[in-house]
Amino acid sequence: MNLKLDYIYNYEPNPSSLIPLLQKTQENFGYLPREALEEISRYLKVPLTRVYGVATFYAQFRFEPLGKYVVRICHGTACHVNGAVNISQAIKEEVGIEEGQTTEDGLITLERVACLGCCSLAPVIMINDKVFGKLTPEKVRKLMKKLKEGKLDV
Ligand code: FES
Repeated sequence: MNLKLDYIYNYEPNPSSLIPLLQKTQENFGYLPREALEEISRYLKVPLTRVYGVATFYAQFRFEPLGKYVVRICHGTACHVNGAVNISQAIKEEVGIEEGQTTEDGLITLERVACLGCCSLAPVIMINDKVFGKLTPEKVRKLMKKLKEGKLDV
């Protein structure tokens, strides 16, 4: 991979730039590619293990690209009391991965999120920018099947 990392040089070359640089890197690439972390380590003179240590500490950072479809499963209070656990279980079974993972073909990423801001529709998931509410395990199984077949308009 040949990454364009020129933006790194806009930051002061000292350890206090580490978190802002990790944030900028994720903003640029959607995740933290290893090559970028190595370059940041060299530039800031911070050991790579420390760069990884900091990056893994924060849940906001990811180490692999997002899938084409990002399924955000709401576990906020309203969704939780309306069966989010069963919704999540049905999705995980249908897609074959856990929350926080991406399918090997890069098609689907599952994410666990807190309130999506539409509690009256609980339980809710979001696929890319589209909200799906009042869900049941059966409904999400159908949605996931369509998604895998590329037949869902999201
Ligand atoms: S708790 Fe799920 S949308 Fe608010």
